[in-house]
Parts: sequence; structure tokens; C-alpha cells
Amino acid sequence: MKATHSDALVFFGATGDLAYKKIFPSLQAMVKRGTLEVPVIGVANSGWNIEQFRARAQESVQKHGGLDRAAFEKLSRLLRYVDGDYEDPATFEAIKRELGSAKRPAHYLAIPPALFGTVVEQVGKLCCVNSSRIILEKPFGTNLASARKLNAILLSNFPESSIFRIDHYLGKKPVRNLLFFRFANSFLEPFWNRNYIESVQITMAEDFGVQGRGAFYDQTGTIRDVVQNHLFQLLANVAMEPSVRADSESVRDEKVKVLKTIAPLNEEQVMRGQFRGYKSEKGVTPDSRTETFVALRLHVDSWRWQGVPFFIRAGKCLPVTSTEILIRLRKPPLIYGSSVPAPNYMRFRMNPEFTIALGMTVLSPADLTSEAVEMVASRHPFPEEMDAYEKVLGDAISGDATLFAREDYVEEAWRIVDPILEAQTPVYEYDPGTWGPSGVDAKVMPPDGWHNPAASERTSMSEAA
Ligand code: BG6
Repeated sequence: MKATHSDALVFFGATGDLAYKKIFPSLQAMVKRGTLEVPVIGVANSGWNIEQFRARAQESVQKHGGLDRAAFEKLSRLLRYVDGDYEDPATFEAIKRELGSAKRPAHYLAIPPALFGTVVEQVGKLCCVNSSRIILEKPFGTNLASARKLNAILLSNFPESSIFRIDHYLGKKPVRNLLFFRFANSFLEPFWNRNYIESVQITMAEDFGVQGRGAFYDQTGTIRDVVQNHLFQLLANVAMEPSVRADSESVRDEKVKVLKTIAPLNEEQVMRGQFRGYKSEKGVTPDSRTETFVALRLHVDSWRWQGVPFFIRAGKCLPVTSTEILIRLRKPPLIYGSSVPAPNYMRFRMNPEFTIALGMTVLSPADLTSEAVEMVASRHPFPEEMDAYEKVLGDAISGDATLFAREDYVEEAWRIVDPILEAQTPVYEYDPGTWGPSGVDAKVMPPDGWHNPAASERTSMSEAA
């Protein structure tokens, strides 16, 4: 059955940081592309009026991505604003008035999770529960118990098919491309399994710190912030089986199956770090034990992957900003004397450029020694920062749930990390600009070591051009 398009977007948290940095630019892009023509009702408790709201929207697009005069004027005409407390039923009466004759609103909650319950219950009473949608921003809970509680609140007000839990990573083109590439090429399948693959590693490195989000980050840490959601989604894209059909539920079924094969993590599988200086960040407690770096090892205990270790590493204040997946193949047997060829690998670079490359060994023409080379299948810069949000918001409004985390997926992801969230494992300090704590990560070290993404591939891109 084809999903219907929402006929209004109600946007809670409209004066917040996420709105400013990501949402307004995405809305402008959607208007420009012709995918947003419905009223957008911003809701917040900031004491603002519609003029201030429009001014904020304009400032946001100017700062993040650029003002497109024609598109912004159209967006501006679609904007409405309701100011009020989320606890106050009068706020929702005002939203109802702004909704007018809309029958299929999408309610987008870009607000702290502690307020989800209150807003969802009020929204449930507004109108047209069966044709409304609820779009939620991460974090979706802080552990398994809180995620279950949130799901229970949501599901007592809305059916699962109306709930869209955002993980903006899924909207990124490179992430979608990873899945496409896997199933659009038959040459991969023979080696994409435990017989040929030695290990899988996923690194998400960021060369900046907590960027003024100290209070949030200190309650969160790297595992909750990016591993349980973004990096598990990458892992699922690498490890899942092809779905039996292309519809959202068939695709999401396969992703959940991957998580189901992973046992809950224990202390032996995780190593935490914290960058030097973190404790003096605004909003961070002076004796904080929150990790700003994590490396972990896990097993996808399926027919395809049993015995292949998966390594995940993420951190703030590392030497570069880049996310890469490295699929390392087993080494070939030695035949030419004692020189050990480097293992073949597939490399998927998600940012700042998108690259798919196959690593192999050749005989160097210069000195007849072995030389590691890469065959690049695809390499593109991805300059449009905003496309992930534009994609997921557009999909939610048009009712395509493929790129959203389903209830069972979210709970499985929390189940895996739950035992290590509060575990008192050591937190090792590292210097900003390094690849995390050194010399202590043997238990979470890939067999041939970590692959550290390069800062930029621009040079090779211009060489290739
Ligand atoms: C967010 C995290 O979900 O993802 C941030 O809260 C992180 O800490 C960000 O920096 C990374 O996403 P992107 O799209 O900016 O690379």
C-alpha cells in the first residue's frame, strides 16, 4: 500500500540548536527541490513571535549552507509559530488552530528525550491519531530500560507504522551507497563471509571536541552518542543478508537479525578513553569518567560471520575527521620467498569524501618488491552537509520508513551495549590529536592493527582527475 504524504509538519524544539544547524537548511533544500509544500508549524517555549522565528530561520540558512532567496521566500510563507509550554494543554490548542484543516500532520520532536512522553501524549489527543506521524530525534533512550519505556509510551499512543526514529546516518548518501554497492555487485558475494574475511573494522574519528555540548556529552559518552546508533547501523549494512523484498519492513527485518546474533558486550570487549582537557570543558564534571573515545570488539554470530571479529572505534579530538570501514581479507599463503604480502581489503570511506576501494598487492615495477595499491571503484566529494536531514525528513513526511530505526532494532542495539554502559572499566587519558590511548588496547586491537583514515583524499582525487 502506498503511504500518504503528511499535510503539515509540526516541529517541536524549533528554536533549538539542531533546528538552527540542520533543520532549517534542510527545509529550504526541500522547498527548492519541490518536496515540501505543506505548512511548517514551529513550536517552542522561547517567548518568540513569528517574525523572530522567520528571522532565526533566515539566519540559520545563511550560516549553514547559504540563503536561496526564492526557496527561502517560499519556506517563509509556509512557516507558522506557536509559543508555549509543552506541559500546557493551551499550547496544543494553539497548534490545533494552526493545523486548520490538516488531517495527516507529521509531528517532529527535536526536543530532549525527557519531554518525549509529555509531548507524545498531548499530540495523541490532538487529532487524527491514525493518520498522524511521530518523528523522533536521537537519543532514543539512554539504556535498554529507558528505550523500552519510551517505546511503550509511543506505542500506547501511535502504531509502530506511524513512528519514525531518526538516525541521520541512515540518510547519508555514502551509507546508502554502501548497502547498494554490496548487493549491486556479484563479485563481492563469494568472499563476503567468514571463509575469506579476517576482520571488519569501523572507525569514526572526529578532530574536534564536544563543541559546547559538554553538559549533554557528559551524560552521554561515545557509546551512547554514536556507537549504539550510527556505528551499529554501519555494521548492520556490512553484515546483513539481502532482504527478500525491497519494502521497508523486509529491509529492517534483515538489520534486526544482525543485531540479534550479537551477544551483550562484556568488560573485556571494551576500552575507554578520555581526551586530556575534557574535564575542564563547560558543563563537564571535574571528576568525569565519561568516555570521549571507545574501541570495542564484538562478534556477529551468524552463519556468514561466525568467528570474524568486528572492531568499532570512535572518538573526539582524534587527528582527523573521517569515518571508514575496512574489511580485511585473510592473507594469502607465502609462495615467493619470505616477503609477506599485505592482506587484501575493501575500504569504504564515508566522509569527508566517499570512496570505495579494493586494496591489493602488486610487484613494484621499480625495484621488484611487493607494493600495496588500491583500485578505486568510486570516489566523490560530498559537499552538501545537509543531505542526510533532507533525506530523512523528506522520507518521514512521505511515509517511507526504510531509513528509520524500528522498535525492535533500537531495543536490540541497547541490549548489546547495556552491560558496558555503567561498567567501571578504566578510562585512559589520551592527548588531543592522537589516535586515543596508546599501549593499552591489545584486547580490542584488530589482528593486523588499526587502519587510521587519512585526513583527506583530495590529492589523490585531483591526481585521478
Ligand atoms: C551526532 C553526535 O549524532 O553525530 C555527534 O551527537 C557527532 O557527537 C555527529 O559529532 C556526527 O555526525 P555527522 O553527520 O556530523 O558526521
